[in-house]
Amino acid sequence: MSVHYAWTTALILQICILVVTSTSTASWRPQRRETCELHPDVEARILKDVSYWDPSGGITEDVALSVCAVCGGEGAQAASGASSSSSGAMGVTTPGTKDCNKAQRVLIENGTVFLTNLIGKEYLGPFEHIGFLVELYEASQVFRLPDVEFTYWHGDNAPAHTTINPADNSSLWPHKPPGAGSRAMPAVLAWSKWNENAALVVPYSGAFRCPQDSWDSIEGQLETVAGLPWEERREVAFGRWNGFCTHYIPWMKTEDGKVMKCPRTYLNSISEAHPDLLDAYDLGAARPLPLVHQNRYKYIVSTDGWSISSKFDKYLLLGSAILKAASTRYGFYYDAIKPYEHYLPFMVKSSEDIVDVVKWAKAHDADSKRVAETARRFALRNLSRPARLCYYFRLMTELSRKMKYKVTCQNRRLCVPLVQEIQVFSQYERTNRSCRYHDVLLRYGDDDPLAVKANTEAAATVQGASSSSASPSSSSVSYSLQDIQRLHEEGIAWPRDDLLLQSRMGS
Ligand SMILES: *[C@@H]1O[C@H](CO)[C@@H](O)[C@H](O)[C@H]1NC(C)=O
Ligand SMILES: *[C@@H]1O[C@H](CO)[C@@H](O)[C@H](O)[C@H]1NC(C)=O
Ligand SMILES: *[C@@H]1O[C@H](CO)[C@@H](O)[C@H](O)[C@H]1NC(C)=O
Ligand SMILES: *[C@@H]1O[C@H](CO)[C@@H](O)[C@H](O)[C@H]1NC(C)=O
Repeated sequence: MSVHYAWTTALILQICILVVTSTSTASWRPQRRETCELHPDVEARILKDVSYWDPSGGITEDVALSVCAVCGGEGAQAASGASSSSSGAMGVTTPGTKDCNKAQRVLIENGTVFLTNLIGKEYLGPFEHIGFLVELYEASQVFRLPDVEFTYWHGDNAPAHTTINPADNSSLWPHKPPGAGSRAMPAVLAWSKWNENAALVVPYSGAFRCPQDSWDSIEGQLETVAGLPWEERREVAFGRWNGFCTHYIPWMKTEDGKVMKCPRTYLNSISEAHPDLLDAYDLGAARPLPLVHQNRYKYIVSTDGWSISSKFDKYLLLGSAILKAASTRYGFYYDAIKPYEHYLPFMVKSSEDIVDVVKWAKAHDADSKRVAETARRFALRNLSRPARLCYYFRLMTELSRKMKYKVTCQNRRLCVPLVQEIQVFSQYERTNRSCRYHDVLLRYGDDDPLAVKANTEAAATVQGASSSSASPSSSSVSYSLQDIQRLHEEGIAWPRDDLLLQSRMGS
């Protein structure tokens, strides 16, 4: 009897365990990762960039919040909370100017990414902005991101505001708080930079993952793209671009001591003079060719646009040797790619040296093929989505070590969970085509506790994460997707958290 009883209990227990385990496996997620390995030269770039703050010991809260002053001006006092705009208790300020709207402020607390400003509607849409946020959200789901606060600048180049004085590496940041040291500089992320700039370089995530011909989608066509054997490719250097000259080229000199010519315009005439070697024209002079078909040439010519070329990242996948014009601008992985290993440099000795480079490539066919293959292997290993997410994790981790204050939403006027912003983007007409949102919303967003649930009426006003721990001076607001959209449309969601901090310190 007791045996039978025990058996029944065991059976019931087993059923319970089955039920419990089957519900928990249904929503199973791996632990967020806490390690990953970058290419050593890419890792070194992170350490070098964040070492800017070593002599000063790190970033204090007043310096971090001095980015708020970028959008100073009319209405700024509203941030002290006395008056409130139509956006309620947030106390937001200042009508958006262009510069305000290239700066996306981000705060990460307890592994959750929040936005502490919202870009004005007229400036919404570029994948330079949105792709970064989508990729950052994915990084926060795959990795355990540390508490950290920074600003992402989505303009074509790192901002002039974050330049440093090469004579002594002091900060030229124009909004230094009173009494701040010579290296007072907020953490600003950008996808293209130059040496005399303290911006932290990050992947050009928008181009990697958003458009039709994104890096990720070309990687997905690798079988086709790689299917064309080297021997069948034409021995001509091919290039196409919009013809213009970016502002920093005339500051550069080639080894012959002359001012460098603009590749995007000068190569027209070199191509005309050497049609057997070069077919590199701007689109005013020759017809375009889809990027994935450019693998029919053994050599592909890469030139900068307004700053680094997002096409260069993609060319690395084509299995052709890339001829890269000299430049002072670089992206997050450029330290890892070397001339004559991953690409063939030109406009180094003179503005005409590309002719000799193509002749060299033709005469050294095995070397050119090896350069093409090395480049592709590097890209597949170190520019893939997992590698980019790893980069964000490593950068955030190292940057968090420089934060000299407790990073928290409690003292921020606005802390919108990133998942909610991405939900808005995916539905809003100005942004719904800017990136591939299902990639992250279906994979991670649907059961993110902070996501606004689609068909529950009640969830229309979801609690902002900071509301539970609200103090009178912090935001005790709830957002709905409509709220967030309205804040974008008003174009003024740029809280002066710096002034709030000053009043906190003063009282
Ligand atoms: C983070 O965790 C701390 C401690 O558990 C909590 O006080 C705080 O409110 C959390 N912050 C957010 C934004 O959830
Ligand atoms: C400025 O910083 C760079 C990079 O860390 C370093 O190579 C250079 O020597 C520094 N210059 C001065 C004057 O300290
Ligand atoms: C980068 O490439 C190296 C080999 O070149 C590899 O060991 C490493 O795992 C790659 N990193 C990532 C994050 O994929
Ligand atoms: C984006 O929004 C426009 C306008 O509301 C709509 O016509 C279009 O179907 C939407 N596209 C996507 C991909 O959601």
